[in-house]
Amino acid sequence: MNGPDSRDAILKNMNAALKSRKLYPPGHPAISAPVNKTHSLLTEELKGSHNIAVGLVNETLVFEDDMVQDGEKLYPELIQYMAEKKIDAVVFEKGFSGKELTDVFEILSGAQMEGHELQKELSSKGVLRITLRSMPTGKRNALEIYNGAVEIVENVMGEVRMGKIPKTGPVSDIVNEMTESVFSDPHAILGLTMIKNYDNYLYNHSVNVSIMALSLAKALGLGEEDVRAVGIGALLHDIGKTGVSEQIIRKPGGLSSEEWDKIKQHPQLGSNIIKRMEGIDATIGRLIYEHHIKFDHSGYPETVDSLHPLSQVITICDAYDALTTLRVYQKPHDPVEAIKVMSNFSGRHFNPDMLKTFMDMMGLYPVGTMVRLTTGEIGVVTRLNEGTPDRPVVKILYGEDGTEVASPFEADLKTDGTREIVTNVNPATTSIDLGSFFEKEAAE
Ligand SMILES: [Fe+2]
Repeated sequence: MNGPDSRDAILKNMNAALKSRKLYPPGHPAISAPVNKTHSLLTEELKGSHNIAVGLVNETLVFEDDMVQDGEKLYPELIQYMAEKKIDAVVFEKGFSGKELTDVFEILSGAQMEGHELQKELSSKGVLRITLRSMPTGKRNALEIYNGAVEIVENVMGEVRMGKIPKTGPVSDIVNEMTESVFSDPHAILGLTMIKNYDNYLYNHSVNVSIMALSLAKALGLGEEDVRAVGIGALLHDIGKTGVSEQIIRKPGGLSSEEWDKIKQHPQLGSNIIKRMEGIDATIGRLIYEHHIKFDHSGYPETVDSLHPLSQVITICDAYDALTTLRVYQKPHDPVEAIKVMSNFSGRHFNPDMLKTFMDMMGLYPVGTMVRLTTGEIGVVTRLNEGTPDRPVVKILYGEDGTEVASPFEADLKTDGTREIVTNVNPATTSIDLGSFFEKEAAE
């Protein structure tokens, strides 16, 4: 069964599940039967598409892009709950489970929450393939901005590879959005720089460096124009790698001197591309040209000229993201180690004042550090507390006995009298994938 009949049956069963939930306790067959039916019908529908949305537009029910006739008469509970909870759409992704669907109905009919809170609750329950979308403010959350930025870098580099001059508009828009996010809630988006996509390294790396560079620009108190230059420069700093063959970029182990010479061309290639983009400030081309020249003028390309004062913002963030990422030739350093490595090069590779500001910004235990507490528990630093660098907010993932806790919870070490950090822990000794952890955290 496909098409309109199937759609009616899906809506009918969704409505029946919500209606029964008013009368019966969770798990009652009058609820589970329509939930199971909804699951099997939607799974069948999803054979033909990646996701399906049931939306509410001006109080009218919409299935995908089609308005549902007589929706308010046929499916009153569904409309009532979506409107009350300020849900614009329920989006089902291919492969969602019956358990996820049950949780969604429970939350829709039970929880005293609305809008973004509901989505946050869903993520915390591990429901990742059904989304309750609500956008009363029209603003995107940190993860949506992050993913949007990755897509734009991918498009821009794709355009360059095809010999086109990339458009400036989308780059400029996304940097504005990232800047707003960094200035309004730096922790939310900074945590996402722990997403290290091995296959898509170049795109994720570019976005990570841009987010950190914007945060550093904020910490340095730079003016609007400079913040913008740093954000765009960081996002496009490796754009010249489009001119170096993939084979060389991904080569494990040592490069021949010819191959190394090719890599060394990417700052020059990058700044050439930037010069051809419309309305891009010349400073940005210079920052890109200089991003591998170190504070003591070692690195490449060779130069005797003095460096632009902002180049080092990108150099520092580039180094930190590279150190904390798994590469073909390197195991990732955990954030504490990476900071230590970098501080050994203060005044040589890095501008010491700027590196100091960067280290203060990242804290003793940067966001994404796994730590062991005095209680024996292990968790991840999710947020820093201003003024108390040794007492951040930690999400507890492993209990005192070393087993994973059923529902991870946050402990604010600034106010929590019972917990302190003993040491940082190498994430490789646990089963946590920090990238997907922060992705999940931000899906609210
Ligand atoms: Fe580079």
